[in-house]
Amino acid sequence: MNKKTIEIRKQFLHFFHKKKHKIIPGSSLIPQNDSSLLFTNAGMNQFKDIFLGNNKSYQYSKIATAQYCLRTGGKHNDLENVGYSSRHHTFFEMLGNFSFGDYFKKKAILYSWELLTSKKWFALPKDNFLITVYKTDEETYDIWANVIGIPLNRIILIGNKTEYPDTSDNFWQMGDTGPCGPCTEIFYNIKNNLSSKKNKNSENIIENYIEIWNIVFMQFNRINDHSLLRLPNPSVDTGMGLERISSIINDVSSNYDIDIFQILIKDIAKITNTTNLKNKSLYIIADHIRACYFMIAENILPSNENRGYVLRRIIRRAVRHGYLLGVKTIFLYKLVTSVNKSMNINNIHLLSKKENIENILKVEEIKFNSTLERGLQLLDSKIKTVIDNTLDGEIVFYLYDTFGFPIDLTEEVCREHNIRIDYLGFKKNMDVQKNRSREKKIFNTNYSIMNHTENTSIFVGYNTYKVKSFIENIFINGKSETYISSGEKGIILLKNTPFYPESGGQVGDIGIIHNKTGTFKVEDTKKNGKIILHIGILLSGMLEVKTTVFSEINTQFRSSIKKNHSAIHLLSAALKKKLGNHVYQNGSLVTPDYIRFDFFHNIPIPLTIIQEIEQFVNQLIRRNILIKTEIINFKDAKKRNITFLSNKKYDKYVRTVSINHYSNELCGGTHTDRTGDIGFFKIKSERSISSNIHRVEAITGRKALDSIHIQEKNIYEICTLLKTNPNFLKTTFEKITLKQKNLEKNISELKEKNMIIIINELTKKITKINHVILLIDTLNNQNTKTLRNIMDRLKSKFKYAIIILANIINNKVTLIVGITKNLTQSIQANQIMHIILKKINGKGGGKVDIAEGGSIYIQKLPEALSNIKIWINSIL
Ligand code: SER
Repeated sequence: MNKKTIEIRKQFLHFFHKKKHKIIPGSSLIPQNDSSLLFTNAGMNQFKDIFLGNNKSYQYSKIATAQYCLRTGGKHNDLENVGYSSRHHTFFEMLGNFSFGDYFKKKAILYSWELLTSKKWFALPKDNFLITVYKTDEETYDIWANVIGIPLNRIILIGNKTEYPDTSDNFWQMGDTGPCGPCTEIFYNIKNNLSSKKNKNSENIIENYIEIWNIVFMQFNRINDHSLLRLPNPSVDTGMGLERISSIINDVSSNYDIDIFQILIKDIAKITNTTNLKNKSLYIIADHIRACYFMIAENILPSNENRGYVLRRIIRRAVRHGYLLGVKTIFLYKLVTSVNKSMNINNIHLLSKKENIENILKVEEIKFNSTLERGLQLLDSKIKTVIDNTLDGEIVFYLYDTFGFPIDLTEEVCREHNIRIDYLGFKKNMDVQKNRSREKKIFNTNYSIMNHTENTSIFVGYNTYKVKSFIENIFINGKSETYISSGEKGIILLKNTPFYPESGGQVGDIGIIHNKTGTFKVEDTKKNGKIILHIGILLSGMLEVKTTVFSEINTQFRSSIKKNHSAIHLLSAALKKKLGNHVYQNGSLVTPDYIRFDFFHNIPIPLTIIQEIEQFVNQLIRRNILIKTEIINFKDAKKRNITFLSNKKYDKYVRTVSINHYSNELCGGTHTDRTGDIGFFKIKSERSISSNIHRVEAITGRKALDSIHIQEKNIYEICTLLKTNPNFLKTTFEKITLKQKNLEKNISELKEKNMIIIINELTKKITKINHVILLIDTLNNQNTKTLRNIMDRLKSKFKYAIIILANIINNKVTLIVGITKNLTQSIQANQIMHIILKKINGKGGGKVDIAEGGSIYIQKLPEALSNIKIWINSIL
């Protein structure tokens, strides 16, 4: 059969649509509201809370999706298998149907069987299937055996590998914690060979089969290592890899033979000049470019941490395989077009990211290409001398640290030579480096003790700056105390507080907490989970826990922050408008004094554009637009055209800040009521801080005006010095520069003339010993550079010469001795220098043909020079 992969996806969803399932889109590759996962690794991730019973109001009980998944770390990691197995991928699409307390085992199995075998649907021959069932799951066994009618020799019971269920291949769990349950897996005989009849020896039978569909009966929540809680509603989660089922339906022996991979592989082969389309490196590149594409499309950038590092590792592995194919230049970025083509991507939003994805790949490729070859050479040489078949951890670390070789890349190269790597040694070196950089950190505040407090704080300070409050807890040196007294530093926890804790780039408020008994100066406010920490010092008296206080923020500080925070939203909108939609935030800082905004952009920004950005922000300020804040459901927020950070975890309800249609962001920060309140906006600097990341620093309001005044004052003072006015400053400066250039030229001409005169004078003073010219003389007030110049010219004038020049300057003597190369066999400059210096208590040295020295004992110089003349005479 020849069926397009996208057609298979369509059929799957259509089948479940007919079975009354709601078809919804797959979720982001970055799990939302779930820090237990780095990437979405299964179709069920987005439904975790529904399975767990935490989201009872979900409107559908039967769902089907096609979900992009990444399995590159954590419990489900296929990175190493890619290229070595024809069935595993880092990035793949999972087709799944889900029941949340609706149907359970029987229907789930009947659905899968119908879709796979019915002539109307996938029409796969029934005899080719084999089923695995969790050993104690009799109900499932019974359904397969008696309802579906699978011969018993093709139903295999799989138990636990240890005493725990999670050690069974037929007990699926999402991660170390979370929903899990027994599963039944459907295998398909790719060789159509039902050779064995023994169901006791599962391995023999399974050899020719590949797993195509996993049906999980979600019944438990894993809390920790060995504790499972029963879920309120038994549910179903199924998953079938689209690429795999496509290879089965199309009767090809590898996933890489299906249409979507073939388009990609042919393009890669063309770009890399590879003729053998079965080359393993082609497969690896084809797999990895898809993963890179979708990771970057989710705004992940290659870096040395978390998701960014996973991306970096995948790119670098792909680059190395390009290198194995003989590609020495950057090439991966050229494949972005092929991914679009092969996956038939027509989503405008994704298509608009093409250039961005290409640029990020280019930069990372260039970076790695600069060290790849040298790193591989080093690795090759080390592999040759390896002891005990294990590559030393120190070398693995050196490759990582100096050449940017991710450990799995080094491991892969070693594996190709049947060599292991010394993980422990690598880790030891890594830890030493981490400790070193940790020690370098100035601040190391540990708030972990506060994780144990029961308190939660309520922030009430968007519009209220002073509230009556209640001290819930006081911490001094990390320990909970009942009071804090004068001079002590500590942290106060309040029930409700107007102090905004540092978050989303906005710095924490400052102010005071006080009552009749004492005053606490809040120097910073931070957040730890649900509690707000007022960090500072007790200025006078004492404050006790469980007493009433007034907490008051510094309103001037807050007012500046509000202006700056609103300005950063306008700046972000202006950057998008003037530079393009690819601009997205890569970090920000809002302080009362200035704002800092880092964003992705890959080319230099001309001053005229910077000024246009500034103009646009100020234009919006002058329009005095209302800044609207709203609390809405995160799901609704996602439907709107709202800027949010895809790698950040948001709560169920989020706060939006909108400025007409210009800016619409999820933001918890404090803002002005209207844009006009910002007053004035001025960019102070714009520069590129790393590859592809630009940083803008800007100021607002009074500070922006002050900075203009300072500049004006500087210009005024310069004009006064130059006796001109600002309108003529540039021409005056140009004139001065020209004059300066002319003067410098005149000076160097004069110096040259002067030198020629000196050289002529010196030439008159030469004596001869046989055929050797001897010149010994003392000059005055020459600088070292001139002296060296004179020496060079004199040396080049004569064939055989010994030249000794002394120079008296500032009551000191400097000396230079030069000897033409052809004499250095019999007499050496450093030797002469040594003899002179000994006489005048000086210091210096040099080589056989040139030596320099100096002394403060100038009175001994004449005698030293006449002595050296005698000595030279005796030598020659
Ligand atoms: N969650 C299961 C898996 O990923 C079934 O979808 O295999």
